[in-house]
Amino acid sequence: MTPRFRPVALEHASRLVNHGPTVLVTSAAGGRRNVMAAAWSMPVEFTPPRIAVVIDKHTFTRELVVASGAFGICLPGTALVDLTYAVGGESGRAVDKFARHGIVATQGPVLGMPLIEAGCAAWLECRLIREPHAEDAYDTCFAEVVAAAADERIFSNGHWSFSDDNAELQTIHHLGAGHFVRAGGVLRAKPLQAPRARGTEGAS
Ligand SMILES: Cc1cc2nc3c(=O)[nH]c(=O)nc-3n(C[C@H](O)[C@H](O)[C@H](O)COP(=O)(O)O)c2cc1C
Repeated sequence: MTPRFRPVALEHASRLVNHGPTVLVTSAAGGRRNVMAAAWSMPVEFTPPRIAVVIDKHTFTRELVVASGAFGICLPGTALVDLTYAVGGESGRAVDKFARHGIVATQGPVLGMPLIEAGCAAWLECRLIREPHAEDAYDTCFAEVVAAAADERIFSNGHWSFSDDNAELQTIHHLGAGHFVRAGGVLRAKPLQAPRARGTEGAS
């Protein structure tokens, strides 16, 4: 783990993907490894932490994920927007995308998945929960998060912290056709005032 990365308690792991970041799905099996972009992922359970991610059945990633029963989810920051788009537009079947793009991977602590820390805000290591119908009909893969870590400059004590100082690590969100927005415009919701009952306007 790089010095800025810290383990994230599993009860906080769902917060890493609660806001719908575009992620990098990493995978490895039979001496091969791969990485692809995925905009469609979400938490589906707090404890144990479970997520769902759409991994098209025609991708090389799906082949490796089913073979190993595991995958990694890495959250690229704005610095990796070009890389994210690139690995989402090419197949790893004939080429090692890590080598092609000079991506450095660390090994996941529980399942040994390749995980990317440089330029990423966080990662989750996930064990596939076999749901053949969902995988086949909806290309949706469910998984339990078994380990997670985040760069302390943007996520610590179970909370995100977006500021001008960590813009490079802020998560990216795909609008389509290579256009992304980054997270960062934080709005804090306040409790609404209870509406006054009808007919009491003007009454004191
Ligand atoms: C921004 C972006 C988001 C994407 N989101 C998804 C997704 O959620 N699910 C999916 O199956 N493919 C998604 N893709 C397409 C895959 O990343 C693409 O098919 C990739 O080439 C598969 O690589 P592989 O065959 O090496 O696994 C996305 C592509 C881009 C550029």
